[in-house]
Amino acid sequence: MKRRDFLLAASGVAGGTAAAAAPAGAQQTTTSGGGNESGGNGTSGGQTTAAGAGNQSSGNQSSGNQSSGNQSQGGGGGGGPTKQVIVGPGGDLVFDPDKLPITPGTTVKWVWESNGHNVVPESQPEGAGWEGSGSASELFDSGHTYSHTFSTPGEYAYVCSPHKSAGMTGTITVGSAGGGGAAAEADPEEMGVPFQAHYVGIATILMVMMSLLYTFFFLKYGESAHTSGGNR
Ligand code: CU
Repeated sequence: MKRRDFLLAASGVAGGTAAAAAPAGAQQTTTSGGGNESGGNGTSGGQTTAAGAGNQSSGNQSSGNQSSGNQSQGGGGGGGPTKQVIVGPGGDLVFDPDKLPITPGTTVKWVWESNGHNVVPESQPEGAGWEGSGSASELFDSGHTYSHTFSTPGEYAYVCSPHKSAGMTGTITVGSAGGGGAAAEADPEEMGVPFQAHYVGIATILMVMMSLLYTFFFLKYGESAHTSGGNR
């Protein structure tokens, strides 16, 4: 086989594989895009893609997210993903998880599991306008839930006002800022792209790089007897 033919064949194969990989990637990106966009305040547009988004986030949970099972709840009631925070689990004076990194458009749902708690913001990004649930004089009991969709990036610190001194405090970090072990675990989601889409993208880039590298070395060192080094 002549070099030209081989190169043609090789690039054809690479192209074909890339093309085959592309639809999967495109599909997932589309789904996640819809979720993120409608997450801001969305029930309307996101409903049709909610099933797909749910599948993806459950996939994320099984592969990436190993911490306590209440971290993620697939495709709850809207466009974006939903994360759950337990308020006073088993009567403990904590929020679980107390540090929660999320992507913009994620809905956080606080679920009361014991009595006499609230969620009161202490600090938040300028203009975010988050009001929390309850006040110093307004507490809620087991069974109460409260959801808020966070769209402004930054750090949101909140407390349970009667139990602040006992350490019942929490932080929501929207966007890729912030660190810590828990943050590292949630990283793939923080980038705003579903976990599998990253693999598809990386694989595609690797594939292109490999074929380019191969072509380069083939041209530089792979001269066959029938060619006369015409590519100098
Ligand atoms: Cu409390």
